Amino acid sequence: MTSERVEELLGAMSAADKAGQLIQYFYFKLPAVELADPASGIDDSQPHAVEAALARGAVGSLLFVTDPAEINRLQRLTVEGNPHGLPALFGYDVIHGLRTIFPVPIAMAASWDLDAIERGQAVAGREARAVGIHWTFAPMVDIARDPRWGRIVEGAGEDPYLGAAVAAAQVRGFQSGGVIAGPKHFAGYGAALGGRDYDEANIAEYELWNTYFPPFRAAVEAGAGNIMTAYMDLNGIPASGSHWLLTKVLRETWGFDGFVVSDANAVKSLEIHGFAAAPADAAARAVLAGVDLEMAVAEPAYAHLPDAPEAAAAVDASVRRLLAAKERLGLLEDPYVDEDRAREILADPQHREAARAAARGSAVLLRNEGDRLPLDAAALGSIAVLGPLADSQRDTLGPWVFDFDLDETVTVLDGIRNAVGDGVRVDYARGIGVGRRAFPSIFDMFGRNAPEDPEGFDPAAEFDRAVSVAAAADVAVVVLGEWQNMIGEAASRSSLDLPGRQLELLQAVVATGTPTVLLVMNGRPLDLRWPAEHVPAILEIWYPGTQGGNAVADLLFGAASPGGKLPFSWPRTVGQIPIHYSHTTSHQPENQDRRYWDEASTPLFPFGHGLSYGRFEYSDLTVSPAGDSVRIAVTVTNGGSREAPEVVQLYLHQRHGSASRPVRELKGFQRLVLAPGASERVTFTVGPQERRYWHAAVRDWVLDATTFDVWVGGSSDASLTTTFDVA
Ligand code: NOJ
Repeated sequence: MTSERVEELLGAMSAADKAGQLIQYFYFKLPAVELADPASGIDDSQPHAVEAALARGAVGSLLFVTDPAEINRLQRLTVEGNPHGLPALFGYDVIHGLRTIFPVPIAMAASWDLDAIERGQAVAGREARAVGIHWTFAPMVDIARDPRWGRIVEGAGEDPYLGAAVAAAQVRGFQSGGVIAGPKHFAGYGAALGGRDYDEANIAEYELWNTYFPPFRAAVEAGAGNIMTAYMDLNGIPASGSHWLLTKVLRETWGFDGFVVSDANAVKSLEIHGFAAAPADAAARAVLAGVDLEMAVAEPAYAHLPDAPEAAAAVDASVRRLLAAKERLGLLEDPYVDEDRAREILADPQHREAARAAARGSAVLLRNEGDRLPLDAAALGSIAVLGPLADSQRDTLGPWVFDFDLDETVTVLDGIRNAVGDGVRVDYARGIGVGRRAFPSIFDMFGRNAPEDPEGFDPAAEFDRAVSVAAAADVAVVVLGEWQNMIGEAASRSSLDLPGRQLELLQAVVATGTPTVLLVMNGRPLDLRWPAEHVPAILEIWYPGTQGGNAVADLLFGAASPGGKLPFSWPRTVGQIPIHYSHTTSHQPENQDRRYWDEASTPLFPFGHGLSYGRFEYSDLTVSPAGDSVRIAVTVTNGGSREAPEVVQLYLHQRHGSASRPVRELKGFQRLVLAPGASERVTFTVGPQERRYWHAAVRDWVLDATTFDVWVGGSSDASLTTTFDVA
């Protein structure tokens, strides 16, 4: 139901006015324009062309502007140029923070802390709305089971249950912060062949419903106001032109009532797919499929909509949705933003505190032989901090951030120095040079370029210096991983090796005999087979954001315990991909671990894995009936000597039925914090919602009468088990 005001506006609009409302332009600020590659379609005429379109009243939305004064200026041009005085909706990629940068989304998912995730995106939403952004192109809720795909860093990993919970929390957070959330990319983008970004995805229907759709559905149920389409072909049909996806599933089955935006240029690209004959055909077919708004760099296809009478009713419906969104945001009353207030909100110290807490909560302790961590700062005379990522502000923030403040970014080196004070000597050596990629990223034009080595950098001498610094220290903290521009959009990889000479550096440091701690800064699993055998303490810190270094120091020195759990199965080697814990099994299950003759077929670290400074014990697992559900309870005790968080995970397996079901599936989790010696009874309810699955032949949800195995514990390898029957 739209308001009278919207209906009146619609009634007064010409076909060209309506088409204008359905066009969203990029507006590129320098340096993007200065640095642009001519092949990108962006040149210095781009902002002028957009301003001319604003003056003609032919724009409904803009993206990529973050300066409140600039937003006000462009908004004034929009309102004055529009024959009905309509304002623009300003959208932006607020992925893991605007000014206060939180850990990357895969890291936030690793916290399994839905409150922290919601709080983080509420901060991001608040900062975005303060500068005049009305809508974020986030969360990315694509299931990613192939870490060669660089965008794994933007999502919540491999699991639909965790993914759905994280998606809903993010939607709630963003929208409570005052911006529309736009879950993306609908649907199946994470399954690009070979992990190659934008390549086709071929996903069986039962996998779509059981695995790839649940996070979208949860986001819709959480009230997301927008959905973004995906670039690639899904089962042979471009996702951005798929009536089945955008109308049948999204609107008719799930009742989505917000607006749908295409990914950038994806409407025009329907021609590149070999689907549409020309831009005009692309426009008509996209709007009929269910794409309300076209995101375009230049020359939008939707400018042709007035020539497509067959699409007139769809155009009206789309304009209604866009106007309703503007009305709901209050933009029809007051489309401008208070620039002074924006500055205040961006500087809010509480936002930094939330970012620090989030970074603490997202780190995953992968290994801690002999309780090497936490370090006792009082017992240390000197610390060697090594590796080029240890003191790189830009890399600490991760990809997909554009409006950060480098000066306030705390690196791992800074964080360690802040924590130990003057009593402990801290020596830093980069050790190796920047592993610059041989090809330029398309994002270099947004300033996402890799840092350069310092002037006069001598790689061989620096390597040796780092090893001597390590040899002379009481402990070596080595920070290795991927530079932030090696991951994200258009950053697929064919290998999971630590780039450059990083492994060599680690091996040389370990060979000095100095106790070594490895911190991994990355957004995809890397080949850690050697460290997993030879380095006693490994802490996954991801790209931890603005306050990352302080948070890492909190964990290193025991002010807090790590409690993160992996949101994906960590492969040993790239050749195991795809590898996820919720596979089915058929023949010789006793040989499940030996499917390859040259490598184990288990992951290096299982899904849900993450150690702690606490010692968690699980006992007294019970099942009791509760209507059409069962209640599963377990006692969790911290038998260690430190307070610590734990994520209690529930897995199910259906023993028999009308289809084969995965060996284990996550169906519940709860995060708690336990003092030393404390116990808590944790209860889960498992009902039809948790038991049902999409059946390939029935082509609908089914529930079988069967027996379920239950496991509860601290990872997908949990061993405490019981069963229950369902009639
Ligand atoms: C393309 C990306 O696929 C999408 O995720 C992003 O939101 C848009 N570009 C806008 O930057």
